[in-house]
Amino acid sequence: MNIHSYEKLWLIAALLLIVGFIATITYGSVGLGIAMIDDSEDTVNPGSLDEDFGEPRVEHVGENEYEAYVIAQTFTYRPDPIEVPADSEVTFYVTSRDVIHSFSVVGTNVNTMVIPGEVSSMTVEFDDPGEYGIVCNEYCGDFHHTMEGQLHVVP
Ligand code: CUA
Repeated sequence: MNIHSYEKLWLIAALLLIVGFIATITYGSVGLGIAMIDDSEDTVNPGSLDEDFGEPRVEHVGENEYEAYVIAQTFTYRPDPIEVPADSEVTFYVTSRDVIHSFSVVGTNVNTMVIPGEVSSMTVEFDDPGEYGIVCNEYCGDFHHTMEGQLHVVP
């Protein structure tokens, strides 16, 4: 009967709507010329960061590809500022020397917890030059509210 096919139609419409919502959420790109590509976690010994993780730095690893090794500790991020060129793909490796912090780039969806013993990594594309603030969203001590850094995407 006809009713049956209408029901089918509505069922499909409802399913498409749900799939659409999920796709919108998972594919949440941020605008501002920044897009998150990947994020994951690795481990490191917080007691020997200098040997195992190295100095906080930005490395040029390929054409338009960079790796930023960032250390968070009460109440700073290093390097500061983090400088990367525009039109680049940057993988951040962020770890903590002491307690739990976060690495949150204001105005973007770059926002990760930074846990001692773990290396949070995420790959981000920067299209346009700009300056971004980095803030800590995890309470980490008396001066948590002053913990901030700078990310400079330079022309
Ligand atoms: Cu670091 Cu709050």
